Parts: sequence; C-alpha cells; structure tokens
Amino acid sequence: MHHAVQTLLDWYDCQGRDLPWRQTRDPYKIWLSEMMLQQTTVPVVIPYYQAFLERWPKIGDLAAAALDDVLAVWQGLGYYARAHHLHRCAGIIQKDYGGMFPADQQALRALPGIGDYTAAALAAIAFNQPATVIDGNIIRVLARWWGLREPLPGLKKHLKPLAGDLTPRERPGDYAQALMDLGAMVCKPRTPLCAQCPIQGFCRGYQNGHAPSLPIRPPRRQKPRRFGAAFWIADSQGRIYLYRRPTKGLLGGMMAFPSSSWEATPLSPRQALSQALLPLDWTPIKGHVRHSFTHFHLELSVFRGACSAAQADALNGGRWVHPRHFAAQPLPTLMRKVAALALKP
Ligand code: ADE
Repeated sequence: MHHAVQTLLDWYDCQGRDLPWRQTRDPYKIWLSEMMLQQTTVPVVIPYYQAFLERWPKIGDLAAAALDDVLAVWQGLGYYARAHHLHRCAGIIQKDYGGMFPADQQALRALPGIGDYTAAALAAIAFNQPATVIDGNIIRVLARWWGLREPLPGLKKHLKPLAGDLTPRERPGDYAQALMDLGAMVCKPRTPLCAQCPIQGFCRGYQNGHAPSLPIRPPRRQKPRRFGAAFWIADSQGRIYLYRRPTKGLLGGMMAFPSSSWEATPLSPRQALSQALLPLDWTPIKGHVRHSFTHFHLELSVFRGACSAAQADALNGGRWVHPRHFAAQPLPTLMRKVAALALKP
C-alpha cells in the first residue's frame, strides 16, 4: 500500500465524517445513499435518506411502492430521472436477484441509474472490492496530489490507471470515502486548506504551489437562457389542472402545469397565449419564475385562467388537484415555484 494511502486511511479513522450511510454495510442503504448523492450535496441528502429508509426500510418495500409516492418523497432532490431509475432498479433487484444486490461491478453497472461511478462506489463500499472510484472530488484530490496539469475533461481518462494503482486491496471503500472527505473538508475546490492536509508531504501540487489551480478546467461557457409561459388553470372548485410530462426528457414523468414552448427570446403575451390549451380569459400574474437547470436558465411568466365545467371536459389526460394536495404530487421544484407565484396573496 502506498504510504500516503495508509496515512489517508488513518486520517479517515479520526477525521472522517460521521454520515448515516457509514453506519451500515447493507448494500440497499449504501446504494440508496449513492443514488441520492449523484449531483446532490451531503447536507441536502441526509434528511431524504432518512425519510426513504423510514418509509421503505427494505428494498422489497421500495420495489412495491407506487412510483408516484417515490417521486413525491424524492421531490426537491432534483434530477428526477434518478428517482425513476431508483424505483426501476429496486424492482429488478427484488424480482431478478431475490432482493440481493449483486456483488459484481459489471452486474451492478448494468442496472438502471448505475454508471461507472456508482458501480465502483457500491463494489468498494458495500462489497469491499478494490474497485476504483472516481468522481469530481476525487479527480481534484488526485490532480493536486500528483501535480497533473492536463486539463479536464481529458484528465479523467489519464488519471484512471494511476487511481487504479493507488486503490488498496484492504479497505477500498474507506479509501474512496477518505478521498471524498478530504475533497469536501480539506482539499476544497477554490481554497485548499493545505495546512490541515494529512498528505501534504506527498502532494506535488502543494510542493510546486499549483494546488489551488488544479485541476485545470476548460473555459466555462455561459449557460443559455430560455423563456416561456406556464398556465395556471382553475376549475370552479379551485382545483388546478396538472398533466404528466412524457417519461423521456427534462422532468420526465413528473407532474406539471401546462406551458408554452421554451424559447431563446422572451415571448410576448400574445405569442405565449397562442400556445395555451384553452381560449380562456387569461390574466398575467405579476412576477416571474426563475429556475436553473444543468444546461440553461429558465424564466417563465405565469397566466391565470378560470375554466368552466364544459371547458374542463375538453382537457383530457391530466388531473385536477387542489393546491392543498400538491404536497403529495410529484411536482418538480420548477412547478412548485410556479405554484408559489400563483398562490402568492
Ligand atoms: N458522495 C458520494 N458518495 C459519498 C459518500 N459515500 N460519502 C460522502 N460523500 C459522498
């Protein structure tokens, strides 16, 4: 074992974070944590992790759950495709694997929602296999430790053999999590706290003063902006019209208020209303909804319309839900922002 790896493991034993999914070796719980931690930070994940396990303590419980219940509890974690994958994967593990996760990285990789990173993390953490775990934080730590000046994204491929050589046969899961903790607490993105680093003495980035600027990133392109309108349609009982978005694509399978297309330039009210589902007496609601997705910023205006029973009959395929029951609906954050604006007194 590389001396620095042993030093990292010793540091992890004293300074590693005490996180709920580290008190177990249950692959179900570790899988759940890793699915949630994809693209979401530890403090955000903890309450969701606990809520899921309270409600679905075993994989069979999650497999048997209604998808909408899973989506509703997931709501707020974002990237809802992960919740669909989670539910689908639970079904496969229950049905095809008798409720037991396979211990093999290749077999794990074939499951919904499990990519290279998650397969390696599960193999290492849940099954103690010397799999090489690489995520953004680990890339940063390794780039600094070894003083690697190749820019991203190419760096990742070149780092793999080195990362593989470093992975210890003993405690590979703890080693991966030690790197994650070092990245989160010490080897921070902008201002690494090198004075506190257990492997400072091994770190080429520290020695040559490049640590804070590694890894080198390609210049960042600005996210494009998109514009559109959402339609808040109420019936005579105060219920609001929701429909389910297609499974594929952004916010796939989630409930939504109808909206116009999302365009590169703001829509005039006339353009927006020409895309409304019904020719109602529309009123613009003051203000906008702003939301950032991974690849663009979105700004929506919102129009309110009241719908007669006959007009409501013309809308099919959706459902009418009173706002007091929204909590139980799989509404993504964007749509909750629309509701918050429409319901503002
Ligand atoms: N991010 C992803 N997986 C993690 C883990 N097991 N511990 C801490 N942060 C993580």
